[in-house]
Amino acid sequence: MKQRPPLFVGNWKMNKNASQARSFVESFLPLVETFPSTVGIAIAPPFTALAAAAAALGSKRRVALAAQTMSEFSEGAYTGEIAAPMLAEFDVAYVILGHSERRLYQHESDATIGAKVRAALDAGITPILAVGESLAVREAGDAVAHVLAQIQAATGDLTEEQAARIVLAYEPIWAIGTGKNCDCDRAQEIAHAARTARNAFADIPILYGGSMKPENAAAYMKMSDIDGGLVGGASLDPRSFANLIAGAIAE
Ligand code: PGA
Repeated sequence: MKQRPPLFVGNWKMNKNASQARSFVESFLPLVETFPSTVGIAIAPPFTALAAAAAALGSKRRVALAAQTMSEFSEGAYTGEIAAPMLAEFDVAYVILGHSERRLYQHESDATIGAKVRAALDAGITPILAVGESLAVREAGDAVAHVLAQIQAATGDLTEEQAARIVLAYEPIWAIGTGKNCDCDRAQEIAHAARTARNAFADIPILYGGSMKPENAAAYMKMSDIDGGLVGGASLDPRSFANLIAGAIAE
């Protein structure tokens, strides 16, 4: 195992109501209780299921809670938004920011995502900054430059101390939900470019996301700059998510 501890985050997206979240947790906890305590595990339910998931996870939290997004503002007239202090009430440890689905469907800009990253850090919630290129950008040979630009735009004005507290998730858009996971060496190339972009990133977790499955997770973990996964589809079933983590940490 690498010196940096592994981290696996289940991004449920717009799936599961409160009772489904509760039953997931009840099935999942016994499956992961024997995993080494150094293995970080989190689930990101929809906002409406956070309370049920928090209650089912209990206070010792072998499995942490993550949110799928949040507002860049701490309160006020922002209809429909959820602020970091509201997430803190449920001991939410992580928040996924800049997911490509938010960039695409909610038109979130790099500037907005950067403001959210700062708001999360200010609230003591670890941002998981998701970055990744489209197929067109990949085919034009611009993947590395594109990802580095996204990272710079969202984190460029963080102090070294703040930048060292984030998690990065490399998620090529063309690999998300398609079953076409990214070649491990290519994912490593991007992860390495991200890690070496700034001294503060030397020890942060860098996750891969995009059709990570129980069958392919271990191969990513062999890559020297990849520390875990941001897992969508394969995190919806407790057995599948537990198998994925078990496979990934087996060697
Ligand atoms: P996927 O989603 O594992 O279903 O490809 C990953 C993500 O979007 O975070």
